[in-house]
Amino acid sequence: MKISRRASEIAPSLTVAIDARAKELLAAGEDVVSLGAGEPDFDTPDFVADAGVAAIRAGRTRYTAPTGILELRKAICDKLKRENGLDYSPDRIVVTSGAKHAVNNAVAALVDPGDEALVLSPHWVTYPALVRLYGGTPVVVECPAEKGFHPDVEALERACGPKTRLLILNSPCNPTGAVLNDDDLEAIADLCRRRDLAVISDEIYEHIVYDGNVHRSIASLPGMAERTVVVNGVSKAYAMTGWRIGYTASPLPLARAMGRLQGQTTHHPAAPSQHAALAALSGPSDCVERMRSAFAARRELFLRELRSIPGLSVPAPEGAFYMFADVAKWAGARVGGRTLAGSADLCEWLLERERLALVPGAAFGREGRIRLSFAASEATLLEAARRLREGLAILDAEAE
Ligand SMILES: Cc1ncc(COP(=O)(O)O)c(C=O)c1O
Repeated sequence: MKISRRASEIAPSLTVAIDARAKELLAAGEDVVSLGAGEPDFDTPDFVADAGVAAIRAGRTRYTAPTGILELRKAICDKLKRENGLDYSPDRIVVTSGAKHAVNNAVAALVDPGDEALVLSPHWVTYPALVRLYGGTPVVVECPAEKGFHPDVEALERACGPKTRLLILNSPCNPTGAVLNDDDLEAIADLCRRRDLAVISDEIYEHIVYDGNVHRSIASLPGMAERTVVVNGVSKAYAMTGWRIGYTASPLPLARAMGRLQGQTTHHPAAPSQHAALAALSGPSDCVERMRSAFAARRELFLRELRSIPGLSVPAPEGAFYMFADVAKWAGARVGGRTLAGSADLCEWLLERERLALVPGAAFGREGRIRLSFAASEATLLEAARRLREGLAILDAEAE
């Protein structure tokens, strides 16, 4: 059977490959510690799960409108007003099967073959892959580590050409945790207005911020709502990754286009999940703060542990739940007759030798780094740090 060029050319996700290998080892009874996954380890809050079950029991199990049930779209508008100071009407909201699908819809509706999209790097694995899927060209612009992985807006400007249509933003950022501040946002907004760029603003980690960092949506800046697709969802804030509910808030013509796309593809996200998301967004929000402060405590613990490993440099993330550690020191390390050329080799070796699953920086476009999720129990984090210390000490000993 002939596989289409489009499907053949989708790069396999390194994140998925590592995760699949870790699961294989676990299934074989191996003692694997995994900090590879990008999801909260908490259970969905009871009142949210109950709403999902109640929806099933009440027979809310039939097709809904392609863009989602009206009550949920209204609750999303209320949330955007309350938390982000944004004014949207329900007809500008499209409820999607997770934030990933929301990004997919936005890229599909904005990118024509030949268009260029600016992607800040390090970047979530999916952005360049989606731009390519729709025939566009991702133009990757490095965010310097020395600037805490905040964008270099002059470099962004230099990367803009006549074919540049779109800028994809992600704040707080996976994998670096960088949270765009007012200066970043104003400079980026100025660039987008002058260059007439559309923006996809992925805000899925908005509630997970530390040390007084504040999330602000770029759509709240003057003249930006009309050129921005806000992407968000309930996966990370409400520990609802498996329910698959995300959404976009955008100008009306774009919302209509994405609604048409969805009507011809997935139709709509699962009806019971929509009711659970409605409960989450319109219910008490103390569960969100409880999980955030648990992540904050784990961040302190994990930073302390990782920073005590000789040679490892770990910036404190401003948001999200990942450490993006600098392992350049071990690039090209030799062990057991093999050379660990890049971050993917290092992660593969750590998985084989220490049974520790991490994600290579290469997956996010940045060599010499590894991503460690701290959305895991304290015991798991301590054990992960122990294994990493042991593994890197082996490499150091081999180098002597
Ligand atoms: C930056 C970013 N956006 C979107 C998503 C996907 O969210 P969802 O599970 O709602 O599709 C993730 C998940 O890892 C992410 O890191």
